[in-house]
Amino acid sequence: MHKIYITYPFPEGWLSSLEGKVEMEVQLKNQFLSSSEMGERLKDKDGAIVLLANKIDKEVLDKANNLKVISNYAVGYDNIDIKEAKKRGIIVTNTPDILTNATAELTLGLIFTLIRRIIESGEFLRQGKFTGWEPDLLLGYELKDRLVGILGAGRIGSAVAEKLYALGAKIVYCDSSRKEELEKGTGAKKKDYKWILKNADIISIHLPLNEETYHFIGQKELSMMKNTAFLINTGRGPIIDEVALADALRIGKLGGAALDVFEYEPGVNPHLLRLRNVVVTPHIASATYRARKGMAKIACENLLAALEGKEPQYRIV
Ligand code: DGY
Repeated sequence: MHKIYITYPFPEGWLSSLEGKVEMEVQLKNQFLSSSEMGERLKDKDGAIVLLANKIDKEVLDKANNLKVISNYAVGYDNIDIKEAKKRGIIVTNTPDILTNATAELTLGLIFTLIRRIIESGEFLRQGKFTGWEPDLLLGYELKDRLVGILGAGRIGSAVAEKLYALGAKIVYCDSSRKEELEKGTGAKKKDYKWILKNADIISIHLPLNEETYHFIGQKELSMMKNTAFLINTGRGPIIDEVALADALRIGKLGGAALDVFEYEPGVNPHLLRLRNVVVTPHIASATYRARKGMAKIACENLLAALEGKEPQYRIV
């Protein structure tokens, strides 16, 4: 039987398709392993199901001599050294599609929360500051007719664009390739990212994290944005330079930000947390029963296919 390492004690039944087919070792909840320790755990394993918080780097892979497949329980795979895995002939898989809608819906939720000041308004009320209806109390912006820039129009970025379009927003996007379907369905226009930074009212990040996108939004980019613009990130934290973002928000160079992901997760820059015009959630974009259970099913299918010498549905390398 194939030996498998699973880095999280998934809820009962989520990995049921593995039962009787593999021998599993499961990592305890909240147990942090260094690369060397992770390598030790993977030493005699044929496969692993890992989370985005598990860094699978060269040091891990150097020890994991037997490993044939890494099934990542996420769509993003910046936690894995793909080049090193490929060199060793290790198959790497991910779990896209099933989480697209959940992630897109949370993005919409964050946009509304931010531009209509929902959390700020709730706090205002709880603090006993509501003394009666006033014409100019807690004014925000409508989504309808706003220009929204989508940075990265892959599966999730496109789903966000479609939902925004249905609500009356105008869409521009930047991506390495032209998205004709998206353009046809939403009237979206492809633009250079600098154009988007300068002109969009709302900018939503849906880029993968890699060497090219690390700190894609830094001080220079933030200074190009309108000072009423809103920045949304449900992609990966390190795409934004968090110090630069906190500075820009503090001095009023930006209208606000809604962040589901952070540069040094699970840590969050404390300056961001002090700002009224910042909405934060703890990386929950895909946290629906349907998406997370579905991701587990796909992670198991990918793993088993690779171990059985078949082509996994979602293979990265
Ligand atoms: C992913 O899958 O990459 C998300 O960040 C978590 O669902």
